[in-house]
Amino acid sequence: MSDGAATLEISALTSGYGEAIVIRGVSMTVAPGEIVALLGKNGMGKSTLLKTVMGFLPAREGKITLRGHDVTRDPPHRIARQAIAYTPQEQAIFQDLSVGDNLRLGQSEASWFEEELARVAQVFPFLKERLGQRAGTLSGGEQKMLLIARALMARPKLMLVDEITEGLQPSIIEQLTEALAVQRERTGVAMLLVEQNVRFALNVADRWAVLKLGEIDDAGKSDAHNAAARIADHLSV
Ligand SMILES: Nc1ncnc2c1ncn2[C@@H]1O[C@H](COP(=O)(O)OP(=O)(O)OP(=O)(O)O)[C@@H](O)[C@H]1O
Ligand SMILES: [Mg+2]
Repeated sequence: MSDGAATLEISALTSGYGEAIVIRGVSMTVAPGEIVALLGKNGMGKSTLLKTVMGFLPAREGKITLRGHDVTRDPPHRIARQAIAYTPQEQAIFQDLSVGDNLRLGQSEASWFEEELARVAQVFPFLKERLGQRAGTLSGGEQKMLLIARALMARPKLMLVDEITEGLQPSIIEQLTEALAVQRERTGVAMLLVEQNVRFALNVADRWAVLKLGEIDDAGKSDAHNAAARIADHLSV
């Protein structure tokens, strides 16, 4: 690992499915401890970009580096070893396992469980009382929180999170906003958040980018006075 390297650097990346090109020359970086939101309308390639970073889809052109390591041609299991936690858009908790076992599956070292559980329970207190409950019986919002909690158990340096707020009520979104900010503060974890919720994205992220037909169409800082209006413009057209 080279010091000072970006946590994630994507350069001129092109990828897709079979003959179809979906991601067209995308470049973006996430610095250590930085949170970047990737927005865009349905079908613009947001999930495809995350899948390519994780190695589930091959890069046709371009380069992906994680903390200075070139992972462009690496298979998913090697990429996952780079302290990267991926929360796919399709729900991925194990419904028939307990909450506790779901969390255990997230950790990369068994000895971390108690320590990490204590840390994660500070942001999601309900988890501690529900360790024995079957995960499939949690509410939809609780399942989303379990997904994030499980990702955090691995002590990631980078989290790729695909539309975690989809279908959540405002009060749960507030809780997630707080939880992600606290985790970043405590652990320095960097995040790339794919989102359609502009308010959540701007509250959590330092910077944002809009993906349109596989290309970065616009980007800026979250605290720019016109950020919300600019993004709304892109999402409405
Ligand atoms: N497995 C697949 N095979 C072929 N085409 C696919 C596949 N998955 C996605 N696509 C296509 O790739 C394009 C981008 O899809 P993607 O899922 O990346 O969009 P998205 O920006 O994540 O959208 P959403 O906001 O709806 O989740 C779409 O045209 C989609 O139909
Ligand atoms: Mg998607």
